[in-house]
Amino acid sequence: MKKYLGLTSGIGMFAGASIVLSASALAGAGDPAAVDWSKVPTTEIGLFWPGQSTYDYLISPRHKRADLQTREGEACVDCHKGEEKEIGNKLVVEGDLEPMPVEGKNGFINLKFQVAYDDNDAYFRFQWKTLNNYPGWAHPYYRYDGKAWKVYGYPKLDAVVQDGEQPGIYEDRMSMMIDDGKVENYAKQGCWITCHDGQRDNPDRPTTDEVKANALFKYLKKKDVRKYLPSTRTDGSSWDKGKTPEEIAKIKAAGGFLDLMQWRGHRSNPVGMSDDFYVLEYRNSDAGKNPFSSNFDKKAKHPKYMYDEKKFGKKFVRVEDIRKMETALVRERNAVPFDPNAGWKEGDLIPKYVISREDAKGSAADNNRSKGVWKDGVWTVVWARKLGLTNPDDKALKEGGVYTFGFAAHDDNITTRGHHVSFPVSIGFGAKADIEATKLN
Ligand code: HEC
Repeated sequence: MKKYLGLTSGIGMFAGASIVLSASALAGAGDPAAVDWSKVPTTEIGLFWPGQSTYDYLISPRHKRADLQTREGEACVDCHKGEEKEIGNKLVVEGDLEPMPVEGKNGFINLKFQVAYDDNDAYFRFQWKTLNNYPGWAHPYYRYDGKAWKVYGYPKLDAVVQDGEQPGIYEDRMSMMIDDGKVENYAKQGCWITCHDGQRDNPDRPTTDEVKANALFKYLKKKDVRKYLPSTRTDGSSWDKGKTPEEIAKIKAAGGFLDLMQWRGHRSNPVGMSDDFYVLEYRNSDAGKNPFSSNFDKKAKHPKYMYDEKKFGKKFVRVEDIRKMETALVRERNAVPFDPNAGWKEGDLIPKYVISREDAKGSAADNNRSKGVWKDGVWTVVWARKLGLTNPDDKALKEGGVYTFGFAAHDDNITTRGHHVSFPVSIGFGAKADIEATKLN
């Protein structure tokens, strides 16, 4: 067995960092970096730029000669098998399905994927080339402009970046969406069933006031539209036709939701975690607390935490630092409460989020063993997930089970639909499927 290979090289990457994961979280079995990955077959999965190919587009006559079949639940790969590269390269440039092309963007990513399991855990390994010659471990900051702290850095689909007013700064991510057969059409049509007009960066986006005035969104206390399942809408599609909270709770109790978890280059990787969400009437966090929180004190109008100079070497970073070093602000590792009188100068930067492994709790903290290392232009992410989870917002992976997975990579400073996505793939744990997980002894 290789000993914590990925993790050892990972630790070296943290400027001034001490411990990445607690020793107990890594001891022996259960450590995804200790799996002998050379014994686990690799599958290449095509990830492609989807543009604005929402479900609403796919069931409209614009999806030529395929709208009725898609509506009836026919599998995407019945017609599009092996077309990932072609579709991605077509949609990444300006066109019908791409009104906001990102300069220099690639249409396709070849994901190398491995999966294994033992009696307690499933283990995943992802490898993909990044477009840039630096890892996406930076995320928006608060920048002092001489008077106030203002957000600095936005994702590349935002107009402020496309107009050159703000730099494109956003973390890299690897996401998995999982179903156990309880969500209609997911096995055949994958993440597209969650992707709709009205969502961020998609067509026909409602105003914030329109969202807040909608009964379901008022109940959810949300002001934008994110992924949702058709089953949660009275007309099976529209963002504003939500069923009642009682009806939605029934769908959830019957398992009619998708697991959605993301490994994040800035907001989870520095503490060896991935987040844990689920998709139902919205993209909801699992119960408990994820490893990241806002670093802004709304009343005082300045960050809550700054870097601890004793541990990090300075109280802030500057723009020239952010592609060269890991700049995550980790509460238990390199942060202290913000001092408004510390002599701030124009251009000083403090991360927009504060990260903490210790503060993560409950079902939202299930993915507590993930680690990504970027080397020679390639991310290698290893990730363990417990089998047989019993939380009401998780899909329990079990030996003998077959699950449908969808994968997505956010690469090069981008969010929302600016990802490269896969068609759905089935994975069996000791069962026949597109990909069969290797059982470890
Ligand atoms: C019955 C066959 C069929 C099915 C099923 C189908 N498609 Fe299509 N799709 C087509 C055809 C035909 C086109 C038009 C291609 C063209 O104009 O060159 C198309 C176009 C597209 C496009 C636009 C790209 C392009 O080449 O113009 C996307 C994106 C797409 N389909 C995604 C999907 C997804 C995702 C699914 C599953 C949810 C799906 N399709 C299901 C046949 C199908």
